[in-house]
Amino acid sequence: MEPMGYSKKVMEHFMNPRNVGVIKNPDGYGKVGNPVCGDVMEIFIKVKDDIITDIKFKTFGCGSAIATSSMVTELAKGKHVDVAMKMTRDDVADELNGLPPQKMHCSNLAANALHEAVKDYKKKKRK
Ligand code: FES
Repeated sequence: MEPMGYSKKVMEHFMNPRNVGVIKNPDGYGKVGNPVCGDVMEIFIKVKDDIITDIKFKTFGCGSAIATSSMVTELAKGKHVDVAMKMTRDDVADELNGLPPQKMHCSNLAANALHEAVKDYKKKKRK
């Protein structure tokens, strides 16, 4: 662990976040706010045959929120939507080699925004 309790991997994703941006006309879109701190996260997905082919995120959040979103987009890309739906904040934090306990709430944003985007995709598909 680095000073302040952040793993190297968290710092790396924070400094070089993957998949930042917006997808125009996404197949699924999720937006969640964190009740603990008021930060906001948006996730956009493109889906083909239930596989997430592209994913981007935009966040108004802290460093941990940026690192966890970056990680969640990496984990979800190329996966089936049902697999993405089962990803939890713990999966994301584990993949980042842990988060300081007081920052675990930040990883809720990333996992929840992904789940919302998948729900949105499924809702649109039913129409
Ligand atoms: Fe708000 Fe981390 S402090 S998401």
